[in-house]
Amino acid sequence: MNEKEILRKSILNALKTMTDDELEQRAEPLYERFMKQPIIQDAKTVALTISMAHELPTRPLIEKLWSLSKTIVVPRVTCSKARLMDFYILSSFENLVTSSFGVLEPDPTTAKQIDKALIDVAVVPGVAFNNKGYRIGYGGGYYDTFLEEYPSIATISLLYDFQLQQKVHEEPHDQRVDHLIIEGDKG
Ligand SMILES: Nc1ncnc2c1ncn2[C@@H]1O[C@H](COP(=O)(O)OP(=O)(O)OP(=O)(O)O)[C@@H](O)[C@H]1O
Ligand SMILES: [Mg+2]
Repeated sequence: MNEKEILRKSILNALKTMTDDELEQRAEPLYERFMKQPIIQDAKTVALTISMAHELPTRPLIEKLWSLSKTIVVPRVTCSKARLMDFYILSSFENLVTSSFGVLEPDPTTAKQIDKALIDVAVVPGVAFNNKGYRIGYGGGYYDTFLEEYPSIATISLLYDFQLQQKVHEEPHDQRVDHLIIEGDKG
């Protein structure tokens, strides 16, 4: 394993030691700060992922955004070789399908696909981040590819304190996240 893979694995292991209750309780103040961000308040369409086990839960965020009548869109991988994903409108947690990677995705036969240019803000998932917003993700290169193609989309990530790691190095294809909401920070 190289340094990046070792760091990814060690942070994933730390996430795995957290119970569902701890994941959600520690995320709660982050949700509040997220909802106060002007880019979120001004956004019409917000892209999120549907979190899986051992990840910062996104369901409470999606529900808060729905209550403000924001349009929520979630990705579906369409070509893993080209690292491509399309986005579909999420209107409930029903009718999702489990992808070959084990993540929940919209059902393309029933969900409405949107033009990615309509996304105002993307909530970017990640494993470890440095304070400049460079990131180690889950290893697929999907977000790097997507954000490179749509540079005008604002980006934001929420992270537990141990996910802030100055050892994260920027690689040429890495796209940085504009706004980090970090556990333990103020504001
Ligand atoms: N824009 C790109 N152009 C060419 N190759 C890319 C690009 N983005 C990612 N890759 C390739 O995809 C693979 C995974 O990239 P990386 O390790 O940065 O994924 P990640 O940031 O963890 O994933 P994600 O962006 O989905 O969160 C690497 O082999 C990388 O070279
Ligand atoms: Mg990357």
